[in-house]
Parts: sequence; structure tokens; C-alpha cells
Amino acid sequence: MKKMWSPVKVGNMNLPHRLAMAPMTRNRAQIDGTPGELADLYYSQRASMGLIITEGTQPSDDGQGYLLSPGIYTKKHIEGWKKVTDAVHAEGGHIYIQLMHAGRMSHPDNTPHHRQGVAPSAISPGVQIFTAKGMQDVPAPRALSEAEITTTIADFRKAAAAAIEAGADGVEIHGANGYLIHQFISENANDRTDQYGGSIENRALFAIEVATAVANEIGADRTGFRISPGNLAYIGIDEGEHGLDVYRHLIPELAKLNLAYLHVMHTGNDEFLKEIRDFWSSSLLVNRFGRPLEDIDTDIEAGIAEVAPIGAWALANPDFVDRLKKDAPLNEQDRMTFFGGDSKGYTDYPTLNN
Ligand SMILES: Cc1cc2nc3c(=O)[nH]c(=O)nc-3n(C[C@H](O)[C@H](O)[C@H](O)COP(=O)(O)O)c2cc1C
Repeated sequence: MKKMWSPVKVGNMNLPHRLAMAPMTRNRAQIDGTPGELADLYYSQRASMGLIITEGTQPSDDGQGYLLSPGIYTKKHIEGWKKVTDAVHAEGGHIYIQLMHAGRMSHPDNTPHHRQGVAPSAISPGVQIFTAKGMQDVPAPRALSEAEITTTIADFRKAAAAAIEAGADGVEIHGANGYLIHQFISENANDRTDQYGGSIENRALFAIEVATAVANEIGADRTGFRISPGNLAYIGIDEGEHGLDVYRHLIPELAKLNLAYLHVMHTGNDEFLKEIRDFWSSSLLVNRFGRPLEDIDTDIEAGIAEVAPIGAWALANPDFVDRLKKDAPLNEQDRMTFFGGDSKGYTDYPTLNN
């Protein structure tokens, strides 16, 4: 039997195999941030993935970047997520809610309070973002004060508690892909002169403080962390020539917290992936952008990763696990329905049996 199909313990969960569903924003939440009416069906259809990591979910009004993304900071959000977690658990699955603060990748037209986005520094990412009026330039954000940074860390902590109250098995902190935590990490988004900017240690501090606060609140064994070391210029992050050095400090610091897992969205440097493996002794989840199907288990077989998160293929194939086991053909992905819309391209992808 391939190692991919063997059970694994991640945090306090016993997963039946090594495939997880990667976090994917679907922009189908209600206007107040409560998960949409179909969210419980969408996620429970995919419960055979060993672990589901949900779409990015904001911990506060300030944390919202995109239209109709869900939140986890009001009573109604908790009730909405409870339906989702109950439905996934009823199908035997596990679910972590991804806590995503978009930081500067935001637009006043998309947020409940219509305010300017917040970030480590008032540096515009120089990209556009989808709004109800179509694509618009992302406006320059406002730099957070030190007091506001403390409040933002508390927002992450409270959102983690809310996620557990909503029945989630844990949370994944989104430290990847150019959003708030990544903005603190990266020199080109962070020119602060206080303890949160400048040196590698300072730029990693916000990430470490968020992870520490969340782990203290809900338990390290229910806390995962996602990073994407390397250049992600498409949302305005460029970590520069020495960009990986900050991760050589951050990852060992996170390792000290004994988190449930580290989730790497990996875009290229395999040598660095080996370094991460050496830094990290608990579970490593490695997601490779556009990984060919035949390579899904390569990192697991090589001992580089414990779990392989799958994005778009899991979106388009609710029974991805069954299909892979049977070597059955996969549904094609309908990219036009990835972001926003109704049941089309959300809950209507067929399984092998219907
Ligand atoms: C529709 C869509 C939405 C996504 N939203 C998120 C998100 O909310 N949070 C996140 O960390 N990554 C997000 N991603 C990135 C995926 O988690 C994953 O890293 C990426 O799709 C590469 O994996 P894949 O080739 O298996 O799809 C998104 C990807 C897609 C396709």
C-alpha cells in the first residue's frame, strides 16, 4: 500500500489517510459574513478528504479583503459555522477554519465598515482587486499603530476561540500569499521602525505573537500555520534576494510552539523544502501549486511531508479520494465559478455515483 493511504496523527486528530483539502476562498458567504446556505453541503460533500481546511475566514471587520468572504467573530458567524462543522463531522471528516486577515489586500467597497485597509506600513501592493464595481486598484493602506497590533493579535485569539465554539477541530493561521501576516514578514510591505519592522527577528515577531496567542487560547495541538516562502509578486509581495532568511528564523521559532502542523504552499525551491523539514518535527503539509496528479504522493513517499493538501482538484471533485483510489477520471475544473456565484460550480460537481 502506498504511504499516502496510511493513517496519520496530526495534532490531536487521527486522519485516515494523507490527503487534505487546501483552503479555498469561494466568495459565497452572506453579506454579514455568515457562511452561505450551501456551505454545509459543499464542505460535507468533501469530508472524505482526511482534513478540510476551510476558505480564508476573517477574524474582524478589518480583516476582510474580498467580497462575500466569511467571518468568525460574531454569534451569527459561530452558528453558521456550527452547521458546517456538524455536517462535516456527520460524514466522518475533520475541519480546520483558516483565519485570514487580508491586511492591505482589501478595498473599502468590500468591507462592512468601508474603511481604508490596514497593514504594517502605508505601502500599496500596486495591484487590483475584485469589487462589486469590477476590478479596482487596491488603495494604499493605513499603518497599524502598536496598540492596534495588540488588538489585531487579540482578534486572532478570539476568532480561534470562536472557531472552536463553532465545533472546528482547530484553526489554520494564514501566514501566506501576501496577506497581513505575510505583509509583516516581507521587507517590501513592511518598513516599520519599531519592534515589528527592520530586522528578520522583528519582521517575524507578529507571526510568532499571533501563533503564540492562538496556541495559548485553543491549544497548540489545534493550531496550524500556513506559509509561502518565496516570491509571490502577483499580490505585491516580493521577498527579495535574501527573502528566505526570515523563514530560517520564523520556522524554528514556530517549531518551539509544538503546533499541530506547518502548511507550506510551495512554489519552487526544493532545497529549501528540505531545510524546512529539518526545522520541523511535527506534521508538515506541503501543497504545490498545480502539482500534477501523478506527483501527489511524491513528497510523502520521500518523507518530506506527512500530508498533501489538494486545492482545485478537490474543489471540482467532491469524491476526489474515491476517484484517486479507483484511478477514475476527474471532473474538469470550471474556473469561471471559482469565486462567487450560486450552487453552480460549488455543490453541483458530480460524484462517480451520480
Ligand atoms: C479558488 C481558490 C481559492 C483560494 N483561496 C485560498 C485561501 O482562501 N487561502 C489560502 O491560503 N489559499 C487559497 N488558495 C490557494 C490554494 O490553497 C492552493 O495553495 C493552490 O490552489 C495550489 O494548489 P492546487 O494546485 O492543488 O490547487 C486558493 C486557490 C483557489 C484555486
